Amino acid sequence: MQATAIAQPNIALIKYWGKRDLDRNLPAVGSISITLSELQTKVSVELSDELSDDVLLVNGDENQAMLPRMSSCLDKVLGQNRPHAIIQSHSNFPIAAGLASSASAFAATTVAAAGASNLSLGMQDLARLAGASSGSAARSLYGGFVELKNADDSITLTPLCDVDSWPLQVVVAITETGPKATGSTEAMEISRETSPFYSNWISQQEHDLEVARRAIERRDFAQLATIAEHNCLKMHSVMWASRPPMVFWNAATMRCLQTVRRLQGEGREVFFTIDAGPQVKAVCSPADVEAVSQALSETSGVQEIMTSCLGSGARLVESL
Ligand code: DP6
Repeated sequence: MQATAIAQPNIALIKYWGKRDLDRNLPAVGSISITLSELQTKVSVELSDELSDDVLLVNGDENQAMLPRMSSCLDKVLGQNRPHAIIQSHSNFPIAAGLASSASAFAATTVAAAGASNLSLGMQDLARLAGASSGSAARSLYGGFVELKNADDSITLTPLCDVDSWPLQVVVAITETGPKATGSTEAMEISRETSPFYSNWISQQEHDLEVARRAIERRDFAQLATIAEHNCLKMHSVMWASRPPMVFWNAATMRCLQTVRRLQGEGREVFFTIDAGPQVKAVCSPADVEAVSQALSETSGVQEIMTSCLGSGARLVESL
């Protein structure tokens, strides 16, 4: 009745922002992401009839704030009449700061919960269950480049390109380590209800997905860079124009974008993307990773740099 799983966060190049069904957590748009290798979350789930409630330990400390969502994730996989569980989660990167920690945490919890009760579920089912807990978590079930598509009443996941076929790298510039002010679920609903740009965002997404799909198919870095930056800035425009406005960036975030523009001007293969937090993720070719990492680490306000290759999907492992 115990299992441990590992999952890596993923970074969306074409973003998920907005829900079409809040109760079932179905996204309003498809998305395309890359899964990272060096950043990781391990989760162990131990089911026991002896426990009177679920217990969650995050990096060794009891965490009441995240417990309801983790308990609900177990309910989705195992049903409400399941035994209670001790859930232990360990991440090697800052959590809740816009680094997709919920994606890796819910992907790993879903796989570990299924493993702990010996459920043999296929990848698509695990991805749907993980996505019901956190939309982006569905993508962390797969490695490399993956597309999440909106199906009629659900989602489907399609691997687009494996790690070895296009081994891009990602440099994460951490500009702030505290937890973010507004969680994604709430922020997306504020955007849907109040942003004058929301409907355009939804209607243009299929076009952006198509362009990115083609760029990935042809390994066309320049085209992927252009569409990914455009899609990212469009998502942030939706947020900025919401009421209240949601600006996740700080001054160092902006300086990182300037650094990326300078590197592009010098002919480096690099582009930026930013999620619901102040960190900048610079996607680059292996040949340019050192220059990108050096330039971002010298950018004023950057506290830490993490460099990662593309990684594989969520899976069961021996132990924490
Ligand atoms: C900006 O997956 O955290 O990172 O489904 O409400 O848990 P919930 O949202 P979440 O949102 C991720 C938003 C994003 C873009 C993306 O990863 O596609």
